[in-house]
Amino acid sequence: QTGHTSLDYGFVNTAATKSAITYIDGDEGILRYRGYPIEQLAQGSTYLEVAWLLLYGNLPTADQLGDWDDKIRHHTLLHEDLKRFFSSLPHTAHPMSVLSAATAALSTYYEGQSDPNNPEHVELNTIRLLAKLPVIAAYAHKKSIGQAFLYPDNTLSFVDNFLKLNFGNLAEVYQVNPVTSRALERLLILHEDHEQNASTSTVRLVGSTGANQFSSISAGINALYGPLHGGANEAVLDMLARIRDSGESVERFVERVKNKEDGVKLMGFGHRVYKNYDPRAKLVKESADEVLTELGVHDPLLDLAKELEEIALNDDYFRERRLYPNVDFYTGVIYKAMGFPTRMFTPLFAIGRLPGWLAHWTEMQNDPQTKIGRPQQLYVGSGARDYPGAS
Ligand code: SDX
Repeated sequence: QTGHTSLDYGFVNTAATKSAITYIDGDEGILRYRGYPIEQLAQGSTYLEVAWLLLYGNLPTADQLGDWDDKIRHHTLLHEDLKRFFSSLPHTAHPMSVLSAATAALSTYYEGQSDPNNPEHVELNTIRLLAKLPVIAAYAHKKSIGQAFLYPDNTLSFVDNFLKLNFGNLAEVYQVNPVTSRALERLLILHEDHEQNASTSTVRLVGSTGANQFSSISAGINALYGPLHGGANEAVLDMLARIRDSGESVERFVERVKNKEDGVKLMGFGHRVYKNYDPRAKLVKESADEVLTELGVHDPLLDLAKELEEIALNDDYFRERRLYPNVDFYTGVIYKAMGFPTRMFTPLFAIGRLPGWLAHWTEMQNDPQTKIGRPQQLYVGSGARDYPGAS
């Protein structure tokens, strides 16, 4: 069963993007990567195995995955000149701005090796981006806390290397926490793709002009930064902290949302496609209790989030508008328990979504139907008129 197509609804939406990567049924709350249910992948797979699946269409053999993992590990180093790029930025720079700028800057080191029509270039730059984006994100974090950048440790797994780059330091031996490691792996898997969301559509649109992977991914990072998209995970924590610090009751806050006072929204709620519970949000909520308990963290913001959800799910305002928690509602509480500052939440989303962006960029490049993206317009402006004095 391949699921609904636009034909099932009696029309052919020629403007719709054709893709074989991810299937979503927003009414049923179904999400599948290349046909595999997200629940099974999150439970048993790894970030890199799922990345291969999204990029190449099938699960890799053990040898394929081992070889790919090895290649990625050996591309984690940034050029020493690029590391100096960070010193030109204020320590207050938001990591998402650093991430998009440094990703665009990466392409300057690979000019002449970034031809979208050269499969070897595309494969190598896929590996370079998967290997280097987490390092750039970790350096943005280290920059913001005034700590020295660490070199990647290629003896560690992808996720553990990333955790060490963020939380290790030169003064002590870093011990990977297996609870954090497994929880982060699952969260990254849950973010790897989501069909034609705003940032993925941006990557496809920019790539459709012939722009290389670095420039296209940098554009996707900028789209994800917005608080209505990937920036929502950071906005949820800010919202919960504001409720806690203001002393305002949850009920009063919900009333303000319903009255649309000052444009306030229940961040982490609602979705363009899911008009039911986001299956990712369900998995994240389930693991939130488990992860915080195993990390020995009690965060009143998790209790506050659950209280908000309980009130919203039983309120006609949200039910009538089919507003449910989305992937961003609970993720921030877990990231916070792991030790990440709020501003690192959206970079974590970007690292998770990178394989999906690259898979869509590649699918678009390989599709002979691809033309330069140019969304249709309905003109509603002024009719023809003459400039004063024009003859
Ligand atoms: C992501 O597309 C993807 O797949 C994205 C994503 C991915 O994996 O890539 O899933 C990741 O971006 C998740 C969404 C994260 N954003 C947020 O949590 C921000 C808060 N959510 C909203 O801004 C909103 O729900 C959207 C933008 C996500 C979706 O908006 P829709 O479906 O276009 O809904 P709408 O704006 O047309 O609103 C319909 C009604 C309106 O009320 P009325 O005008 O009918 O009175 O619902 C209300 C809206 O005001 N509404 C909300 C609300 N979201 C919609 N009211 C309060 N709080 C909210 N969060």
